[in-house]
Amino acid sequence: MNSQSFSFLHLLFIINLLLLLQSPDASSNPEQFYETCGGTFSCGNAITGIRYPFRGSNSPPYCGHPSFVLTCDDQSNVTTIDIMNMTYRVLNISQTTQTMRIVREDIMEGTCPQEMVNTTLDYSIFDYASMYTNFTFLYGCPESKLPGLSPISCGNNGVYTFPGIQSPGSCNASVMVPVLVTGDGAGGSVNATGLDQVLQRGFEIRWKIGGKACTDCVKSKGRCGYNFDGNRTTCFCPDPPYVSDTCPMASEASPGNTPSPGTYT
Ligand SMILES: *[C@@H]1O[C@H](CO)[C@@H](O)[C@H](O)[C@H]1NC(C)=O
Ligand SMILES: *[C@@H]1O[C@H](CO)[C@@H](O)[C@H](O)[C@H]1NC(C)=O
Ligand SMILES: *[C@@H]1O[C@H](CO)[C@@H](O)[C@H](O)[C@H]1NC(C)=O
Ligand SMILES: *[C@@H]1O[C@H](CO)[C@@H](O)[C@H](O)[C@H]1NC(C)=O
Ligand SMILES: *[C@@H]1O[C@H](CO)[C@@H](O)[C@H](O)[C@H]1NC(C)=O
Ligand SMILES: *[C@@H]1O[C@H](CO)[C@@H](O)[C@H](O)[C@H]1NC(C)=O
Ligand SMILES: *[C@@H]1O[C@H](CO)[C@@H](O)[C@H](O)[C@H]1NC(C)=O
Ligand SMILES: *[C@@H]1O[C@H](CO)[C@@H](O)[C@H](O)[C@H]1NC(C)=O
Repeated sequence: MNSQSFSFLHLLFIINLLLLLQSPDASSNPEQFYETCGGTFSCGNAITGIRYPFRGSNSPPYCGHPSFVLTCDDQSNVTTIDIMNMTYRVLNISQTTQTMRIVREDIMEGTCPQEMVNTTLDYSIFDYASMYTNFTFLYGCPESKLPGLSPISCGNNGVYTFPGIQSPGSCNASVMVPVLVTGDGAGGSVNATGLDQVLQRGFEIRWKIGGKACTDCVKSKGRCGYNFDGNRTTCFCPDPPYVSDTCPMASEASPGNTPSPGTYT
């Protein structure tokens, strides 16, 4: 009678296994991770050959860090990325310095921010990478309260801009935007004509994740990917073990000199 319950459990196990193998996420077969994540992201002439931690929005999630998804608009060759629920246009990416230059997409579309949201970064992943100045846009200001200042024209009425961070005060809303500081002194007063150009330079940020783990992986002839179970960078290898911290070196490795996986963090 024991053998009957055993075969029942056995059957359950096999059914389970079949279900697992047929899971809808058919691409999550570790043998294929290395191949599937072989591509790079390019969009127009400005952004080309971009690798981990980035991935294109069309490639599988495990090929990149979830906060580094790039979208290419085929009509305009504009690359965008979402950070803290805000869409930014990506002007430049340097993988050697781990920096990129971005600008709020709502500023590219009309000089003033269109979304009433302060610019914030996810500081666990990003930092400002170069000199910048905060600019505040004040919306819905009563004209009597700001004598001598002229509002800027950008679709909305009664919009004023100041360097630094300001609370709304007697205006209806305030929105903060960082701006790259360059040699021509964008930090101080900016006239309305120059404002578009200054704002559309965007600002530079550095990313803090993926660096060493990915370098070690690539050195071992692997391709970097993302492990959603551990929320960390991992390494995909062409041969078993298909997923590891680094790939085992091929047959050249002499006995006693075999690199042990798992020693990197
Ligand atoms: C987008 O980039 C491709 C490849 O560089 C180029 O052939 C195409 O003309 C560009 N389109 C626009 C609208 O810039
Ligand atoms: C992100 O923005 C969308 C649309 O603006 C909004 O519906 C959603 O609640 C926001 N999510 C967060 C986490 O702020
Ligand atoms: C992008 O960054 C690279 C490296 O920092 C630099 O050489 C290049 O001029 C930049 N391109 C633009 C359009 O700013
Ligand atoms: C810009 O504003 C942020 C707060 O949003 C603040 O943490 C940062 O220090 C400010 N930077 C400068 C250069 O004033
Ligand atoms: C500011 O907001 C109030 C209430 O929503 C509105 O009545 C007023 O017209 C706004 N002021 C301006 C200048 O837009
Ligand atoms: C932006 O930040 C300033 C200063 O912290 C704050 O007074 C203002 O209400 C914020 N604006 C929005 C839209 O949250
Ligand atoms: C506004 O700034 C731009 C660029 O900074 C400059 O070329 C122009 O002469 C300035 N216009 C006025 C009226 O000051
Ligand atoms: C990974 O991140 C997700 C979403 O942020 C979170 O729910 C989950 O608990 C994290 N897992 C680990 C192992 O840290």
